[in-house]
Amino acid sequence: MEKHYIILILCSILVFANGNGVSQGPKAVRKWFKKHSNAKEKLTEFHFYLHDIVSGRNPTNIPVAMTNATTQSPTYFGLIAAMDDLLTEGPEPDSKVVGRASGLFGSSSLQELGLHMTFNIVFTEGKYNGSMLAVSGYNQFNNRYRELPIVGGSGVFRLARGVATLENVWYNNTSGDALVEYHVLVLHY
Ligand SMILES: *[C@@H]1O[C@H](CO)[C@@H](O)[C@H](O)[C@H]1NC(C)=O
Ligand SMILES: *[C@@H]1O[C@H](CO)[C@@H](O)[C@H](O)[C@H]1NC(C)=O
Ligand SMILES: *[C@@H]1O[C@H](CO)[C@@H](O)[C@H](O)[C@H]1NC(C)=O
Ligand SMILES: *[C@@H]1O[C@H](CO)[C@@H](O)[C@H](O)[C@H]1NC(C)=O
Repeated sequence: MEKHYIILILCSILVFANGNGVSQGPKAVRKWFKKHSNAKEKLTEFHFYLHDIVSGRNPTNIPVAMTNATTQSPTYFGLIAAMDDLLTEGPEPDSKVVGRASGLFGSSSLQELGLHMTFNIVFTEGKYNGSMLAVSGYNQFNNRYRELPIVGGSGVFRLARGVATLENVWYNNTSGDALVEYHVLVLHY
């Protein structure tokens, strides 16, 4: 009886833990909340590069929908797109992959190239593997620095908050491809 019980527990740990070993499922999340309700937040810093590929045969950023007015708009107002961009340690395309930026954005400004973005930074490496940071904000693409709020997270980033600072390393205005440098500061437990 006891043996079976232990095996069952071991199985649930294997099934419900994600890559970083953070247990999932409603019971595990409740336990996590109780454990962390009085914990002190810590600051973690990330630095990586986002490869936004619009052109070629394997784009990671694709337009999904637009209106007739979008085609007349200098700011692509109304364009909705999906992205699943690679995040790497260094700026080179073959640099080590640390995760993906996966989500949606829409051109939401009549005045400037301004994108309302909602996506997740999905980590696929090391102790953050399987954990995510939820990003939601307004990206003024022509500004040198843009700030996107980190509004939450999952896995080791439950209840996270922070800021991502974006700067284009380069943007090719013919192909639409871009390499964007990310500095992320995040408070979490
Ligand atoms: C990340 O986690 C996934 C799913 O648990 C696993 O398949 C993958 O091998 C892990 N990657 C690394 C680099 O640990
Ligand atoms: C959009 O443009 C197409 C082609 O010009 C036209 O047939 C269609 O009626 C337009 N749709 C709207 C909603 O204006
Ligand atoms: C595109 O980029 C080139 C080189 O940076 C620049 O000279 C040109 O003015 C840009 N074109 C537009 C439409 O922004
Ligand atoms: C920009 O993209 C165009 C079209 O794909 C390509 O021909 C050109 O070489 C690119 N420019 C740079 C500086 O990479």
